[in-house]
Amino acid sequence: MTTAQTTDLIFALDSLSISSNSADALMKGIVALLHEKVTRYNWVGFYMMEKDGDRDVLVLGPFKGTSTPHTRIPLSHGICGAAASTEKTIVVDDVNSDPRYLACSLETKSEIVVPVFVHGKVVGELDIDSDFRAAFGPDDRALCEHAALVLGQFFERHPYARPAHI
Ligand code: SME
Repeated sequence: MTTAQTTDLIFALDSLSISSNSADALMKGIVALLHEKVTRYNWVGFYMMEKDGDRDVLVLGPFKGTSTPHTRIPLSHGICGAAASTEKTIVVDDVNSDPRYLACSLETKSEIVVPVFVHGKVVGELDIDSDFRAAFGPDDRALCEHAALVLGQFFERHPYARPAHI
């Protein structure tokens, strides 16, 4: 990814956050934009945190790519669970050498998971898989973190759009 492409996509994400009239529309717009414009992003989706009894679970939201068996992920499982519980972006250059990885597609080689924060609390995450090894460099990380930021700031601006537990 070139810096120019990153800058264009960051501008497009900012435009989406202004034009979207619901969090669901914004999530669908972000997923469609990144999946369509960055050919190496083969699976793009959001997982949102929900309560399951007294435990948190990541529930699959809008996504583009092949369907995944992982529709509900406990925080103790997967790279998704690790990113939510450590509250940090995780980049995995080779998913097959990471024992945390929960396979979605046999083609996937690398992955990035970026937490979405609302007032400093993790409410979900953006997950992107690539069929190419080490697909997520510094520009990709900046782009994906901006996409997560845009959604978190939307929830902060529109409290009524937040899931009940936030
Ligand atoms: N790979 C993720 C699970 C989600 S699917 O890839 C869409 C993980 O290890 O948490």
